[in-house]
Amino acid sequence: MAKQSTIFVCSNCGNESPKWFGKCPACNEWNTCYEEKQNIKNIGKAPKEKTEPTLLKDVKKQDISRNSTGFEELDRVLGGGLVKGSLTLLGGEPGIGKSTLILQICDKVQGEGKVLYVSGEESAEQIKIRADRLGINNDDILFLGETDIELIENAILKIKPKLVVIDSIQTMYSDEITSSPGSVSQVREITSRIMRTCKQALITTIIIGHVTKERKYSRT
Ligand SMILES: Nc1ncnc2c1ncn2[C@@H]1O[C@H](COP(=O)(O)OP(=O)(O)O)[C@@H](O)[C@H]1O
Ligand SMILES: [Mg+2]
Ligand SMILES: [Zn+2]
Repeated sequence: MAKQSTIFVCSNCGNESPKWFGKCPACNEWNTCYEEKQNIKNIGKAPKEKTEPTLLKDVKKQDISRNSTGFEELDRVLGGGLVKGSLTLLGGEPGIGKSTLILQICDKVQGEGKVLYVSGEESAEQIKIRADRLGINNDDILFLGETDIELIENAILKIKPKLVVIDSIQTMYSDEITSSPGSVSQVREITSRIMRTCKQALITTIIIGHVTKERKYSRT
């Protein structure tokens, strides 16, 4: 059943309210309120997996397997590499070099299987030009130019890559949410869907997000 509702969201902190506000009650910013229409069709649609509680002390260290990114410094920041099935957010201002760094990681990341680079920002040709410039010629990197989360999830589950890259979260959308790509509710929905899909299939994921100077997630 489709459920329509209108909520008011703070563009600064993402605080939601059923009523309009001039000053955000959560972060105290003025004039950050905007209206979002939500159309949630499939509440509780996610397949439920039965999980049993485990004694934490019995969890073996090798259960937490990590793959090196191929960059020593980055591995250190990540606590020893990318944890299998984990989701990492790579944020930064536009033009700072996120897509360039991520392409190098796609080339160098350890582990068995393919890498799936999903871009809503650039075309296959643009990524190819960048790869050539960086001297990357890798048989394991697959490119997907797509912004519809449902089609992206289908590709992820079909390919089951060792690493998925989403460039960028602001360009992706779910047609179950009526607000535009980059809006707070879209970003939240896309992130939680990717997290669920990749965690269940044990696929490591990196999501790129634009952050502006004021450390706010940009809507463009
Ligand atoms: N490590 C780097 N050193 C110098 N220039 C870089 C580096 N990484 C990226 N660039 C250049 O900076 C520009 C923006 O990089 P890009 O990866 O597209 O950034 P973003 O994805 O964050 O917007 C490009 O012209 C790229 O060639
Ligand atoms: Mg980029
Ligand atoms: Zn706020």
